[in-house]
Amino acid sequence: MLSNLLLLIYVLTSSFIFTTHSYINKCLRHQEILLLQLRDELVFNSSLSTKLVRWNESGECCKWHCVECDASGYVVSLQLDDEAISGGIGDSSSLFRFKYLQKLNLGYNYFYYTDPIPRGIGKLTYLTHLNLSCAGFGGQVPSEISFLKRLVSLDISGDSSIILEHPNLEMLVQNLTELRELHLDGVDMSFFRERKSQGHIILSHLPNLTSLSLSCCGLHAPLPKSFWQLHSLSVLRLDYNDLSAVSLHELFTNFPSLTTLTLLACRLKGSIPSNLASLTKLIHVVRLQYELEGRKEEE
Ligand SMILES: *[C@@H]1O[C@H](CO)[C@@H](O)[C@H](O)[C@H]1NC(C)=O
Ligand SMILES: *[C@@H]1O[C@H](CO)[C@@H](O)[C@H](O)[C@H]1NC(C)=O
Ligand SMILES: *[C@@H]1O[C@H](CO)[C@@H](O)[C@H](O)[C@H]1NC(C)=O
Ligand SMILES: *[C@@H]1O[C@H](CO)[C@@H](O)[C@H](O)[C@H]1NC(C)=O
Ligand SMILES: *[C@@H]1O[C@H](CO)[C@@H](O)[C@H](O)[C@H]1NC(C)=O
Repeated sequence: MLSNLLLLIYVLTSSFIFTTHSYINKCLRHQEILLLQLRDELVFNSSLSTKLVRWNESGECCKWHCVECDASGYVVSLQLDDEAISGGIGDSSSLFRFKYLQKLNLGYNYFYYTDPIPRGIGKLTYLTHLNLSCAGFGGQVPSEISFLKRLVSLDISGDSSIILEHPNLEMLVQNLTELRELHLDGVDMSFFRERKSQGHIILSHLPNLTSLSLSCCGLHAPLPKSFWQLHSLSVLRLDYNDLSAVSLHELFTNFPSLTTLTLLACRLKGSIPSNLASLTKLIHVVRLQYELEGRKEEE
């Protein structure tokens, strides 16, 4: 009797698990059509592609390589990195019709440096993760990225022909209050500097930002006050910028939660401050190179 009951419970639970599972992977026909449209629009080298090239009408579209759907069958994630894509993302691309998309990765593709980041990205207002690292794009970062208020992670690193001037960094992230990681290595931000007329502090409205990577951004000290308000940072990368007017003391006192700080070739001057020891969390001062009375030392 008891064993029969247990068997019944087992059958009920497993069929329940089975149903939920198949439900999760239900491909919606209109999403499948959109995926096939996207595949046909994108210009990619099919001998180098490993994911797009295998999208076809056979099989469940939510199980296609690099596609993920939510429980209702809407596409929520597209990991199109490293697919040898060289074109085909205009502002009217099918890509921007996946309105519930949360994660998009277009990193490591072959866009031409004259291709701007498409403004259509601003339509994907559910995005939490946007990764365009080393995609090959160039030109000004479009202000439409600032519409993506749910962004938790933004990576536009690795393309030296990208510029952040209008909008500048502060305008771009003004409303991106959920951001936890922001990687902009290589982006030309030489305009990001302290201005006398600056009325209010904008970057400081990023209470959850823990990882900021700004290597090789053409930064010159003095840096804006807003930068110094990012007290929650645990990872900070500032290599290859001109920080000759920044003191190590400032870095260590403003960012007390640092676990990783990288400052290679930053033209820093001065001595290691005595409060370094008080940064108990700091486990990697990676490649900290500083000039002290003309001597070069490494920590
Ligand atoms: C695609 O990639 C292969 C392998 O690297 C290369 O030989 C071919 O020329 C590429 N095709 C185009 C159109 O770029
Ligand atoms: C469709 O994709 C599957 C899985 O990637 C592959 O095995 C199959 O050969 C493809 N069919 C066609 C017609 O390309
Ligand atoms: C962005 O994508 C690249 C390549 O897929 C990956 O190496 C990198 O870690 C990603 N960035 C973030 C912030 O996850
Ligand atoms: C930020 O949000 C406020 C209020 O919704 C809006 O007025 C402002 O234009 C937005 N700024 C940007 C850069 O999107
Ligand atoms: C910061 O993260 C916490 C914990 O995940 C979350 O509850 C909070 O809403 C976030 N703050 C902002 C401004 O997004």
